[in-house]
Amino acid sequence: MVKAYLILYSTRDGQTHKIANHIANQLGFDDCELMNIIEADEVDLTKYKKVIIGASIRYGHFNKNLYNFIKNNTQQLQDMKSFFYSVNLTARKEGKDTPEGSSYIQKFLQQSPWQPIYIGVFAGALYYPRYRWLDRVMIRFIMSMTGGETDTSKEIEYTDWEKVSQFAAQIKEK
Ligand SMILES: Cc1cc2nc3c(=O)[nH]c(=O)nc-3n(C[C@H](O)[C@H](O)[C@H](O)COP(=O)(O)O)c2cc1C
Repeated sequence: MVKAYLILYSTRDGQTHKIANHIANQLGFDDCELMNIIEADEVDLTKYKKVIIGASIRYGHFNKNLYNFIKNNTQQLQDMKSFFYSVNLTARKEGKDTPEGSSYIQKFLQQSPWQPIYIGVFAGALYYPRYRWLDRVMIRFIMSMTGGETDTSKEIEYTDWEKVSQFAAQIKEK
């Protein structure tokens, strides 16, 4: 059966997937197909009315799978109603949680041949105990530089679920 929405996610530790699930819940699970972007090579976008792509940031960058997907599907993405959301920890700060205030989104828009019609920026999660040693050291350093949590025994979810719900409502409306 053809679904109305395709939600693709590029995730490393699961938060972008969790947000994709929340969006699907808001849009109605029966109308949504969710897929990890690494499994989307063969996907036929013409089967869907709208596509939503979510991707997280690691060490300043989106995953290369996102760019590969965009490269392989540029025209179709441009021809349909397409949405994008970014997940990162910088967005826990006010002003950095909008497309205009997010340097990751601004850089992305300058480089990407795909220009989504609507964009969301969401704070992600900090799961110190789950990271491997080097990642834990590095992210702790980044957090200390930006006045964030440095206690490596902590797991904190910064995602504002109400904001994600509002994003989903916009997708429905557009
Ligand atoms: C090793 C590592 C590097 C990260 N680098 C950045 C970064 O450069 N900028 C940022 O805002 N957030 C950064 N983050 C935070 C992630 O974007 C955040 O944890 C997000 O929730 C991850 O989403 P995911 O689980 O879907 O991959 C980093 C996280 C880790 C673990």
